[in-house]
Amino acid sequence: MNWTRENLKQLIVDKMNGSLLVVASNREPYIHNSGAEGISCIVPASGLTMALDPVLQACGGVWVAHGSGDADREVVDEKNRVMVPPDDPKYTLRRLWLNKTEETGYYYGFSNETLWPLCHIVYNKPKFEEADWLHYKSVNEKFAKTILDEVGDQKAFVFIQDYHLTLVPKLLREANPNIKTALFWHIPWPNPEAFRINPWKEEILQGMLGADLLGFHIQYHVDNFLNTVDQTLEVRVDKIGSSVVAGGRETLVRPFPISIDYEQISRIAASVETEKVMARLRKEFGVKSQLIGVGTDRLDYTKGIPERMIAVDKFLEKYPEYIGKFTFVQAGVLSRIHIQRYKDLNDEINSLVERINWKYATDHWKPIVLVRRHFSPQELIALYRLADLAVVSSLHDGMNLVAKEFVAAAEAGKGVLLLSRFTGAARELTESLLINPYAPDAFGEAIRAALAMSPDEKNKRLQKMKELVAENNIYKWAGKIIQALLRLS
Ligand code: F6P
Repeated sequence: MNWTRENLKQLIVDKMNGSLLVVASNREPYIHNSGAEGISCIVPASGLTMALDPVLQACGGVWVAHGSGDADREVVDEKNRVMVPPDDPKYTLRRLWLNKTEETGYYYGFSNETLWPLCHIVYNKPKFEEADWLHYKSVNEKFAKTILDEVGDQKAFVFIQDYHLTLVPKLLREANPNIKTALFWHIPWPNPEAFRINPWKEEILQGMLGADLLGFHIQYHVDNFLNTVDQTLEVRVDKIGSSVVAGGRETLVRPFPISIDYEQISRIAASVETEKVMARLRKEFGVKSQLIGVGTDRLDYTKGIPERMIAVDKFLEKYPEYIGKFTFVQAGVLSRIHIQRYKDLNDEINSLVERINWKYATDHWKPIVLVRRHFSPQELIALYRLADLAVVSSLHDGMNLVAKEFVAAAEAGKGVLLLSRFTGAARELTESLLINPYAPDAFGEAIRAALAMSPDEKNKRLQKMKELVAENNIYKWAGKIIQALLRLS
């Protein structure tokens, strides 16, 4: 079956018998900010929201999330709801508010200084602060209350996202056992040895096992999760059937590789509007060289950004004939900036770019252009379209949807993907040039291999990946999760 926006919608209409669809995540899909020209709305740099927004646009429903924009309160109604997308409303965004102390403890603290480094094995020590954990618990309760308020006495399917909300499934089950719940884990699940140092591991696992269905990107994360539960809780783990039975109820645990709206991205990529944006971006970046490499990331220490700068250095050192001819554009959005490790990363990137540019720059050219600002989805697509190569060099990543977005947008016969072996996407995108970001010399060689590749070879590789992503798109991901839940009911 070829999954599309339309047949996903049909599945919901035919099979969900009027159940309300509620998505819950920390990050909201649309953020309202105030600026010199009044209130504007942006789409955040988040694979999670980029992936789920088309699903909600197709199916309708309610999305519950933290209202983090400084003008968010100004546009909601008395129930803290606003219809989105703003220019073509399709579903309800229900915002909940966090004060600074809650945000510091729950979001910056427990979510991003404890669970994030615990699950991404990149040699950054997690922090375990009791005060953060207590805020995390109370904010999870706040999310559960808001969801229950939206559900009321309706039949509902609640689809919870990510490591910020691990306690919500159990809270919902206790309050209303009729709600069907799934939780999708957007980041890696580590091996049991890594997870066992977490002082609150039992409560987190019990919280998650309140869901009817748990989804991870790949089988390896499913196996790690089942082994972690097996070694931590007194419950029945069925590794063959891939489920856990706790307190007389079963939770299915399955891999669902997340994806993108391939059709929409490829359509925008081929549009005249994108050509105009490409010309504007070239001008903004001051890029005149023939060959362009591109990286687009949240500035996060898991993304391997310093490693790719060092690879550019290695490449130019070994192949000086590319000096003046190749520019690497790094588009980066500042992220989680109140955490010291993120501030340090920023400084590290600045000094690397400064050093490498100083080493190779000529009067009218520099090897690395670092643009630290928000990019709209249209601009990101234009950037991929400009690229002779795109680099995704995560040190450890759940999926990495940037890689799939590049595949959908890139020009056949031109764009080559360099992809870290340590991403979930590397399991599917095997026609990319797979790299180890920890090995700078080989990484530099891969840049050269991409630039020297024949147009025919580039075309063959990209076409194969385009077909794969077109088939395994975001609607298939959502459809498979909904089908799995329907089989349970
Ligand atoms: O996919 C992992 C993730 O943390 C998402 O949950 C999140 O939306 C995205 O990365 C961006 O991070 P943040 O929401 O912290 O800016």
